[in-house]
Amino acid sequence: MTRTVYVNGDYLPETEATVSIFDRGFLMADGVYEVTSVLGGKLIDFEGHVLRLQRSLEALDMAEPCSRDALLEIHRRLVELNGIDEGLVYLQVTRGSDGDRDFAFPAEDTPPTLVLFTQNKPGLADNPAARKGARIISIEDIRWGRRDIKTVQLLYPSMGKMMAKKAGCDDAWMVEDGHVTEGTSNNAYFVKDGVIVTRPLSTEILHGITRKAVLRLASEAQLKVEERLFTIDEAKAADEAFTTSASAFVMPVVEIDGVSLGDGTPGPIARRLREIYLEESVKTAI
Ligand code: PDD
Repeated sequence: MTRTVYVNGDYLPETEATVSIFDRGFLMADGVYEVTSVLGGKLIDFEGHVLRLQRSLEALDMAEPCSRDALLEIHRRLVELNGIDEGLVYLQVTRGSDGDRDFAFPAEDTPPTLVLFTQNKPGLADNPAARKGARIISIEDIRWGRRDIKTVQLLYPSMGKMMAKKAGCDDAWMVEDGHVTEGTSNNAYFVKDGVIVTRPLSTEILHGITRKAVLRLASEAQLKVEERLFTIDEAKAADEAFTTSASAFVMPVVEIDGVSLGDGTPGPIARRLREIYLEESVKTAI
């Protein structure tokens, strides 16, 4: 089925949607993005994603393409036009184009480029991969220093994913100065003796929207959470581990660098958090 996508004010068939070859998103990775999940045709944590988008734009001195209400309208219309029950809405804003290539930013009145499209993912909530758990490898984190800004510079995370695939695994966790930063497209956690451990927020990791919700739900469920730096060896010695992201929710991790965690199946805390998260998200979806 040809998707209907959104580009700068227009809803178009994906085959007719175009962006300039001079767009700074294309030439300089000068753009930011958000991925919002859809369950039961409704948006999960829309407000969190819009707030983080505004924060990313502000950090890069980029103009807001439109209001929160207009963004909500575009998201909802795309979900409806494409008949999405379970899936994702991808949104990208770039600094646009003034018709040439230049390292200096274009004039301030250059309109940003705004693109949104949907991805249909039936079975996103009841994902067989979550029942199996993910096998991960660790790799060095060589990304730039402002990982809290959700930019479209995703080459290294893509390479990390390919390194994992090549090793017969599902994903990679990145390590910097001896400590785990995050996964290629998710935040990282391990559980030891009932305590959930994850790296604290800083410019070194993305401030995950799912992370925030899951940590709140964990505290409400009387689970202990410690936000601190941790090593890959601590994670390997853990009872269980998991990741969080808008596209995979809570994903159990069952193996790190060839070492099985617990009995090698998804751990009870990861399974429970996935359940609670999905239940709560569907309740508050808009
Ligand atoms: N990735 N860390 C990184 C590096 C990410 O790319 C993501 C999300 C997260 C989790 O953030 P959130 O919970 O807000 O999705 C953490 C999205 C899903 C992606 O690139 O597709």
